[in-house]
Amino acid sequence: MQRTHTCGELTDKNIDQVVTLCGWIHTRRDHGGLIFIDLWDKYGLTQVVLNPQIDQLAHQEAQSLRGNFVISVVGKVRARPDDMINPKLQTGAIEVYVDELDILNPSKTPPFSAWESQEVGEVTRLKHRYLDLRGEELQKNLALRYQITRTVRNVLHDEKFMEIETPVLTKSTPEGARDYLVPSRLNPKNFYALPQSPQLFKQLLMVSGMDRYFQIVKCFRDEDLRLDRQPEFTQIDMEMSFVDEKQIFPLVENMIASIYKEALGVKIETPFAILKYEDAINRFGSDKPDLRFGLEIVDVSEEVKGVGFKVFTQALEAGGQVKAINIKQSTDTLSRKALDNLTEVAKTYGAKGMAWIKIQENELQSPIVKFFEKEMLDRLIAKVEGKPGDTIVFSADTPKIVADSLANVRLSAAKLLNLIDEKLIKLAWVTEFPLVEYDEEAKRHTAMHHPFTAPLDEDLDKFESAPGEIRARAYDLVLNGNEIGGGSIRIHRKEVQEKMFKLLGIDSEEADSKFGFLLDALQYGAPPHAGIAFGLDRIAMLLAGAPSIREVIAFPKTQKATCQMTQAPSEIDQQQLKELKLKYDLS
Ligand code: AMO
Ligand code: AMP
Repeated sequence: MQRTHTCGELTDKNIDQVVTLCGWIHTRRDHGGLIFIDLWDKYGLTQVVLNPQIDQLAHQEAQSLRGNFVISVVGKVRARPDDMINPKLQTGAIEVYVDELDILNPSKTPPFSAWESQEVGEVTRLKHRYLDLRGEELQKNLALRYQITRTVRNVLHDEKFMEIETPVLTKSTPEGARDYLVPSRLNPKNFYALPQSPQLFKQLLMVSGMDRYFQIVKCFRDEDLRLDRQPEFTQIDMEMSFVDEKQIFPLVENMIASIYKEALGVKIETPFAILKYEDAINRFGSDKPDLRFGLEIVDVSEEVKGVGFKVFTQALEAGGQVKAINIKQSTDTLSRKALDNLTEVAKTYGAKGMAWIKIQENELQSPIVKFFEKEMLDRLIAKVEGKPGDTIVFSADTPKIVADSLANVRLSAAKLLNLIDEKLIKLAWVTEFPLVEYDEEAKRHTAMHHPFTAPLDEDLDKFESAPGEIRARAYDLVLNGNEIGGGSIRIHRKEVQEKMFKLLGIDSEEADSKFGFLLDALQYGAPPHAGIAFGLDRIAMLLAGAPSIREVIAFPKTQKATCQMTQAPSEIDQQQLKELKLKYDLS
C-alpha cells in the first residue's frame, strides 16, 4: 500500500508509469461502464478510472465506494483524451487506470462536505472541525500559518535567538486581563494561573544571561472575545539584552519582511513609519490607525470658539474639544441615510451626535450653519481645507469620546466610500504611549502596557508632578489598522521600578507577593533589556485575508470560549472535585 506519489503530483511526465496512490474519495461519477473518482489528499486531486475491462473485481468493488472513503489504488498513468484535459489541476493532463483497489476505510456520510460550498452553520462546522479542515481555505490558511512560524524560527535563529520554553502552570502575569486558573490537588486552596504572556520569565532569562530569547507560545486571557481575540492564542515572543529601539525596530522589520516574502512572495518596504501615540490619536483618533487612506481628523476647537451652537461651546467650556473630518468629494455619495448611519456609529462610541456640513457648489447644506457668522464659517472651512463636493463631519465632547467616535466614523466612511485599497500593506510603529492611565472607577493609575515598562528618561521627573504626562518606551506594531504586536524597553533599575509601583499604588507587600521573584532577580545583575510579542493568529489572519482569527487556528473556540467539538469546558465529576477539595457555590 506504500504510495509512490501524492494526489497532487502526477503530470504527463509520468505517463505509462505504474503508481500507487492513497487518499479520500472527493467525488465519484459513474458513467455506465466507467467509474471516475477524484482522489483527494492535501497535495491535490487525481482522477482515477475504474474500467471493468481492466479489472472486473475492482470495478465491482467500486460500486460500493462513497465520498470520503479512504482507498488506495495501483494503476497505470495515462494521458487524458484532449477534450478531457483540465488545465486548472496540476494533475489535469493525466488519469490513473486502476488495476488494484483497496478500501482502507469506509466512511459514514459526513454532515457536510468541506469540498463543496454549502450553507452549513458554524456550530456544525466547528463540531466536526476535522472535516472542515479538509477544505481548501483552511488547508491554505494552516499552511500559511506554518510558513510564518517556520520563517520566524529561521530568521530568529540567524539572529542568534534561542527558543526557550517557559512554564504554563504558573502565577498571574501582569497583562491586565482576567486569569484562567487551575486548582492544585497537592496544595488545596491554591491555584496556578495560566500565563497571559511569558513576560516575567523572559525578563528572568535576560538576568540569566540568555541574551536573545524567543518562543512561539500559547497565552491565555479570560477576556471578552472578538473577531481578533481568542481565549488562548499564540504569541511570537521575544526578549533581548543590551538593545534599545534602534536595534529592535530593524530586527523586527526584517522578520516581518521575511514573513511576507516567504509566505506570500510579497516584498514590503522597510523601515516602517513611526508615529507617536499623541500624533496617532490627534490625526486618526486611534492608537492603531489604518494608514491605507486619508480622512485625517482636524482640531477645529479654535475656529468654532464662541459659536452660537451650544453643543460646541458647551463641550469647549467643559474642557473638551471640537474636531472634524473632511470627507472629500462625498456630497453625492453620502446620502442623508448614510450620514444618519455614521451618526449612529459616532453614538456607539459615546458621542451625542454628529454634526455635518455639506459644501455644495453654491451653498452650504447643514443643520448647524445657521449658528455661524460668515467669517467664522470661512475660517472653519479653510481649516479643514473644504472644497465644493466635500462633507465635513464633527464631534464635540471630551477628548476620549471625540477620538473614539471620529476614529470609527473615519473607518466606516472609508468602507462606505470604498476608499480602502485592499492591496496596500501599511505597517507602522506607534511609540511613546502614556506610561499610565487613570482608572476613574478604581481611582488609581494603571500601567498602560505593564508595570515593567520603562519611562522616557526625560520624563523621569514627572512621577510626582504630572504622572499622566509620562511617556513610556513602549511600542506597538500596527498593520492596516490592526495591532499585531507590542513591547517595550524594560525597567532594569530598582529605584525606577519602586517609583512605578508607588505610582500604581502597589505597596511593597503586594509587589512582593505578585512579582517578588522578578524584583529579587533584578537585584542580581539585570542587564538593560527589552522585548516585544506578536499575535501570530492576527498576523496569519491578515496575511490570509481571513475575516477572523478562527480561520487560521486549527481548533478554535467560539465567542463564548467553548469548544464545540470536545464540549470544553465541561462539568467534572464529584470524585475529581473532591480530590481538588473544591465545592460549588452557585448562590
Ligand atoms: P500584548 O498584551 O500587547 O503584549 O500582546 C502582544 C500581542 O498579542 C496579541 N494578542 C492577542 N491575540 C489574539 N487573542 C488575544 N486575546 C490577544 N491578546 C493579545 C496582539 C498583541 O499585540 N508581554 C507583552 C509583550 C512584551 O511587552 O514583550 C504582551 O503580552 O497582537
Ligand atoms: P440638534 O441641535 O440637537 O438637532 O443637533 C444638531 C446637529 O448636531 C445634529 O446633526 C446632531 O447630530 C449634532 N450633534 C449633537 N451633539 C453633537 C456632538 N456632541 N458633537 C457633534 N455633533 C453633535
